[in-house]
Amino acid sequence: EKGGYDYFMLKEIAEQPKAVADTLLGRIDVAGSLTLDEIRIPAEVLREATKVVIVACGTAFHAGLIAKYAIEHWTRIPCEVELASEFRYRDPILDERTLVIAISQSGETMDTLMAVRHAREQGARVLAICNTNGSTIPRESDAVLYTHAGPEVAVASTKAFLTQLVACYLVALYLGQVRGTQAGDEIRAVIRDLAEISTAVERVLETMEPVRELARSLAAKNTVLFLGRHVGYPVALEGALKLKELAYMHAEGFAAGELKHGPIALIDEDLPVVVVVPSPRGHSVLHDKIVSNIQEIRARGARTIVIAEEGDETVSPYADHLIRIPVTPALLQPLVATVPLQVFACELATARGNEVDQPRNLAKSVTVE
Ligand code: F6R
Repeated sequence: EKGGYDYFMLKEIAEQPKAVADTLLGRIDVAGSLTLDEIRIPAEVLREATKVVIVACGTAFHAGLIAKYAIEHWTRIPCEVELASEFRYRDPILDERTLVIAISQSGETMDTLMAVRHAREQGARVLAICNTNGSTIPRESDAVLYTHAGPEVAVASTKAFLTQLVACYLVALYLGQVRGTQAGDEIRAVIRDLAEISTAVERVLETMEPVRELARSLAAKNTVLFLGRHVGYPVALEGALKLKELAYMHAEGFAAGELKHGPIALIDEDLPVVVVVPSPRGHSVLHDKIVSNIQEIRARGARTIVIAEEGDETVSPYADHLIRIPVTPALLQPLVATVPLQVFACELATARGNEVDQPRNLAKSVTVE
C-alpha cells in the first residue's frame, strides 16, 4: 500500500502534484474565474466581512500564515492568524462580520475545534478548510472547502499542507473576485498560474537527488536554522517543524529581517543555514536584503543552503548549496519552496535511523486540548 516507496511520507511527497491538481479540479471554470459554490456563505456576507481570522495548529497554522499575505494583498481585508490553542483563551474580538477560517487536515484537532465553537458562539461565520470528509470541524462550521489530498497516513503533514495552501489561495482569490477589488487583473492572472502550478511541483520533485545527498551529509549536526521573508518566512517555520518532528534535531525558523535583532549571534562555523529567497521579480527589495543576509551568514563561516528561483544568479556566489525552484508568482512560491524542505527532513530522519512515518511522541490527529 506504500506503492513501492519505503515510507508513506515519501509516497505522499510524490503525490503532491496530483493532490494540488485535484484540489483545483472543478473550481476554476473555462472563463478562468472561480466557482466555489461549496462555500455556502452568501456572497453578500463575504462582501461585508470586515475581518478574517484564521485558526489552526502546527503545519496547518503555517498554511494560515501564508494565507494572510494572500488575503490582505488580494482583498485588502485585514487578516489575523492565530494558533487555535491561544485564540480560544484570549477572549478574541469577533462579531457577525468576522469570517473565521479553520484549517485542519484531520478535522478532529481539539484545539481547532474549540476555537471554531467559540467563534460561532460569538456570531462569526466559520469556513473550514479540511481534508477529511464528514469530520467534526467541517460538521460544526458554516461551510467547508475540502482539500483533495487523499488520505494522509504519515504523521508529518506534506501533501495536506500543499493542498491547504491551494485552498487558502482559492479562498483569497474568491474573496477578491466576489468583492471586486482593484487587484482584479492580477487575480485573473494568478488564477491562470494556479491552474498550471502542479507541473511546477512535479518539476521540483524531479530535482531532489542533490537535496537527499546534502541531507545525508548533515546527519551528525545538532542544529539547523531556516530563514525566509514574506511568504518565505512561514516556509522557513515549516522547514524547521518538519526537521524537529522527523529528525529530532534542534531547528528554528526566523524572519530574515530579524537576524540582526538577535539570531545572528547563533551563527558560527559550519552551522547549516537554509535560506528561502523571494522572487527577484516579485519582491526585488526583499530579494536584495536577503542576498545581503546570506553574505553576512557566510562571512561568519556558516554553511549556506539557498533555495532560489531558476535564473536568479545573484545568489550563486554565496551559496554553498543551491536548490533551484521553478519561477512562480511571488505569493505562490511556498507551493514549490516547501517541497525540498520536506525531502530534506525525510532524508535526514532516515539517515539518523528514525521512524519516518511514526515519529516518537506524536499522533496523527490530536484530539485532546
Ligand atoms: C506537522 C503536523 C501537525 C499538524 C497539526 C494540525 O507535520 O502534522 O503539526 O499539522 O497537528 O493537525 P490538523 O491539520 O489535522 O488539524
